[in-house]
Amino acid sequence: MHPEPHAITVPQFTAMKAAGRKITMLTAYDHATAQLVDAAGIEGILVGDSLSMVVQGHSNTLPVTLEEMIYHAEMVGRAVRHALLVVDMPFPSFHLGVYRAIENAGRILKETRCQAVKLEGGVEQAEVIAGLVSAGIPVMAHCGLRPQSVHQLGGYRVQRDETRLLADALAAQQAGAFGIVLECIPAALAVRITAELKIPTIGIGAGTGCDGQILVYHDLLGLTPGRMPRHVKPYAELHRTVIDAVTRYRDDVRQGAFPGAEQTFE
Ligand code: KIV
Repeated sequence: MHPEPHAITVPQFTAMKAAGRKITMLTAYDHATAQLVDAAGIEGILVGDSLSMVVQGHSNTLPVTLEEMIYHAEMVGRAVRHALLVVDMPFPSFHLGVYRAIENAGRILKETRCQAVKLEGGVEQAEVIAGLVSAGIPVMAHCGLRPQSVHQLGGYRVQRDETRLLADALAAQQAGAFGIVLECIPAALAVRITAELKIPTIGIGAGTGCDGQILVYHDLLGLTPGRMPRHVKPYAELHRTVIDAVTRYRDDVRQGAFPGAEQTFE
């Protein structure tokens, strides 16, 4: 029998808010990445549906399927030893009624060693969140900018409807969510929502007043060249490092400098 591999449980994650401890979260989509993120002591790892964009190369998060989310979450699940592991429910896996949502989230939990699912929505998804929670499936909600609704929202814009966003956050908490991602909302509103909620708020583009922060791994490391959204702080410029290493390898091979004597068997 396998021992429980995750050190941080859902209740421990939620309790970090009351303890006044800031929560760090990062995405991961494969085994090697998850090992590194986990080793760095991040408290929560999300297999985000952002993999549709940063891994699969789509222009939004809509195309990624439940099967593909499970495929990536399996790899991540085999690596994580410390962090709480959360997997995104892709569009439209939680829009087809409570029964289908439980069926789909149940597959994610059974097949991937994750501990929780995340889904976009608040008031409109309260019934689904409550249904999942009553089935023993921990749910992290995601309010503010909901990328799966990009067409309805008219683009990736900061969301400013204070009444609606507060109602969404409260509805998610009331329905039993153990945490909530707040994406691209004004900092003052995030502070207000964070103060109103007992569950932790995890911000992305929501200022410093949230209980924690989350970023996309590729953005944090500067893996993809090009314009970054304003809320991203690249802590490295790995695309430069990678292009440089690959170019040097290419040149070495062309010039006969690789493999050298050290890499060659007698
Ligand atoms: O899919 C994702 O990566 C996310 C985070 C950006 C919150 O939902």
